[in-house]
Amino acid sequence: MMKNTVSTFREQKAKGEKISMLTAYDYSTAKLMDEAGINGILVGDSLGMVMLGYEDTLPVTMEDMIHHTAAVCRGAKNTLVVGDMPFMSYQVSVEEAVYNAGRLMKEGRCQAVKLEGGASVCPQIRAITNASIPVMAHIGLTPQSINAFGGFKVQGKSEEAAKKLLEDAKAVEEAGAFAVVLECVPAKLAELISKSISIPTIGIGAGAGCDGQILVYQDMLGLFSDFTPKFVKKYANVGEMMTQAFRDYIADVQEGSFPAPEHTFAISEDVIKKLY
Ligand code: KIV
Ligand code: NA
Repeated sequence: MMKNTVSTFREQKAKGEKISMLTAYDYSTAKLMDEAGINGILVGDSLGMVMLGYEDTLPVTMEDMIHHTAAVCRGAKNTLVVGDMPFMSYQVSVEEAVYNAGRLMKEGRCQAVKLEGGASVCPQIRAITNASIPVMAHIGLTPQSINAFGGFKVQGKSEEAAKKLLEDAKAVEEAGAFAVVLECVPAKLAELISKSISIPTIGIGAGAGCDGQILVYQDMLGLFSDFTPKFVKKYANVGEMMTQAFRDYIADVQEGSFPAPEHTFAISEDVIKKLY
């Protein structure tokens, strides 16, 4: 199987081959995705919501991200693993950004990091890239800015906002980002951005004109029922399967049909008799 790297991502865009990405947060799931042939895994700070049950991504810490990134990297052999930089791990200063990106790579063992923002975080993107740590940028709906945006909504609809997004995409490319996530961006704008820059765009809620796609795996598997965004396609109803399996197990335990003889360990009758 092909080993995915930042170079193969670049080559895929040049050849017009679409890049597939999903999020993952643990060893077993990463291993399944890797075996299925996914190009990239993002250990997203969405972990705060789908794994830890927070209302938004803001409480996620560097320790959380390192812990889960390391687990994913142990499961993903051929996949490019990107570790997400949590809120306040890169905003305070360029120095802190480089230090924390370094921790994600050294301790989490990922091959790249991601951070949110356009022109305003270009000093960080440049400095982290200069430290030989590849950076994926993320523009459009950037969930760490939920309080500044006043909620989760589509970005770049007005002429001014669309122009700013296009400029942000060009700025992160210029600063050295190897790819950029476009989240909740009108499809035609995302297509224009994808044609205007040479690094791959990875879309989520940004249409088929992007160079690649990413989804949160709980959303595409039908595992996360708190809410389902419009851009999600459900590839399975794993949540329903799990609930049914849990119910079947509970019923079996209650009626004593689990465990059956084949699930038990034997001991010689002589030994047991002596104990009576
Ligand atoms: O944290 C995350 O899962 C993300 C993706 C949705 C791009 O940032
Ligand atoms: Na994220």
